[in-house]
Amino acid sequence: MSLTTVKGRDFLSILDFSLRELGAVFGLARDLKMKLKAGEGYPLCAGKTLAMIFQKPSTRTRVSFEVGMHQLGGHALYLNAGDLQLGRGETVADTARVLSRYVDGIMIRTFKQSDVEELARHAAVPVINGLTDWEHPCQIMADFLTILEHKGRLEGLKLAYVGDGNNVAQSLLLGGARVGMRVAMATPPGYAPNPELVYRAAAEAVESGGEIELTNDPVAAVRDADVVMTDTWASMGRENEHDARVALFRPYQVNEALVAHARPDYIFMHCLPAHRGEEVVNAVMDGPHSVIWDEAENRLHVQKALLALLL
Ligand code: CP
Ligand code: NVA
Repeated sequence: MSLTTVKGRDFLSILDFSLRELGAVFGLARDLKMKLKAGEGYPLCAGKTLAMIFQKPSTRTRVSFEVGMHQLGGHALYLNAGDLQLGRGETVADTARVLSRYVDGIMIRTFKQSDVEELARHAAVPVINGLTDWEHPCQIMADFLTILEHKGRLEGLKLAYVGDGNNVAQSLLLGGARVGMRVAMATPPGYAPNPELVYRAAAEAVESGGEIELTNDPVAAVRDADVVMTDTWASMGRENEHDARVALFRPYQVNEALVAHARPDYIFMHCLPAHRGEEVVNAVMDGPHSVIWDEAENRLHVQKALLALLL
């Protein structure tokens, strides 16, 4: 695939890229990773600037985008939303118009997916979703790259996600369906992903030959899984629900008893930050099946590929 097909486009949802385009991103990411390890430069964003707007905290997203732009020969600007005029009522649309006059791309982490869509509508440069309450597509790109590295394929693998039907879960469901995985998701009653999104994922799965299974039973989800994944029980913005959720989500903890139902060669993944002793225990996080540090590292490589292709 030529690098020009996604040039100038936004990346707001994991479904914004076709299967072929996803493949091209993974291919370039692997190439960039090899080049970096070999000490070779690859200045695909030379002279370009990425604005990064953060309305929520971040370790991985901020650092990987900033370091990634630097490695590509460009520059990244960290913008705390509270310090921008956005925090004093300047509209998202006007912010988009102004930033477009200075920078070559905008990455944004915020609450509402509609704000990211509004930003993209009014920006003349590509906009990348760095997490909303609805989706976390850059994370799922890194997750899929990691699975490819460890399992050699995505299609046909059983991926079990156990816990909250949150932003990460929703991107995973959509992305897993698009690439033909068997995604089994176990959430407590009332915490499943959005029904319309599930419907969309199911339609994707019909196209790809994948499968979507939603359940309240963590053992059923994890049974014979190739990949076991979880995420925090209380996402950013829901900290006040933390204590109530911990009580409710306890049966969904990824612990040694639960992963005993997975395939013997399963891998464990977590987007991080983890709340050790809550959604996952140390024995699994730090155990021989865990690939969480590769997963975190791959944010850098896959986002560099995205930047090189979009900007
Ligand atoms: N996984 C992830 O997005 O981490 P940060 O919140 O640290 O960016
Ligand atoms: N679901 C988590 C992911 C953090 C990277 C949150 O939104 O806080």
